[in-house]
Amino acid sequence: MNSTIETFLSQRASVRQFDPEAEMSTEQIKQILALAATAPSGNNTQPWQVVVVKNKAQQQKLRALSFDQPQVETAAAVFLVFGDPAAYDVDTLFSYNVANGLLTEKDEAAFKGKMKKFYALSAAEGGTESLMLDGGLFAMNLLHVVRVFGYEAVPMRGTDFTAIKKELDLPQSWEAIMMIPVGKATASGYPKIRKDVTEFTKIIE
Ligand SMILES: Cc1cc2nc3c(=O)[nH]c(=O)nc-3n(C[C@H](O)[C@H](O)[C@H](O)COP(=O)(O)O)c2cc1C
Repeated sequence: MNSTIETFLSQRASVRQFDPEAEMSTEQIKQILALAATAPSGNNTQPWQVVVVKNKAQQQKLRALSFDQPQVETAAAVFLVFGDPAAYDVDTLFSYNVANGLLTEKDEAAFKGKMKKFYALSAAEGGTESLMLDGGLFAMNLLHVVRVFGYEAVPMRGTDFTAIKKELDLPQSWEAIMMIPVGKATASGYPKIRKDVTEFTKIIE
């Protein structure tokens, strides 16, 4: 077992107390998001869209739309993770793969046919559930990556995403995945309480 990773993972906690004076540079935000985007996604569709708010007046408005949770205002930056259903458009996806040399134009037609069949078979694929899954993996990555940069974070869904999309003039078609306030911790997260592995595991030998 890699004890560095073990310690890193076991020390993550939702942190809700941040230094309100702390800031995060645009350069850091870009570095953090580039690493978070190493997350896997179905067919490498990468359907995430991220809006980062690092403006206290805007954060105050977001706090009011988030049941007055203080971390939304005190965070150095609030990451809003959305999923864009347009990313599942088969033609766009395959043009991207061909343009990036992942697929030859010759293979494109055969793969496209398979993908269209796959989407037709499984109604959940390419819809809200896929966006939540792909976007959720991205959000989990982001929660870890910010800690590499010396920040802490809390995943949140206790907010009015519909109102936020209106306030920030974002497409209503975007699926809201998660709000993640990120900041410099002034207090630790709550102690970890987790079920014993035996309570949620069945090992078939
Ligand atoms: C989908 C989801 C929604 C959450 N929403 C909120 C929230 O609105 N406010 C909050 O303070 N914490 C929120 N949390 C954080 C959880 O309370 C926290 O992850 C859980 O208690 C376990 O604690 P830990 O993250 O410190 O391990 C949310 C977590 C998840 C995964």
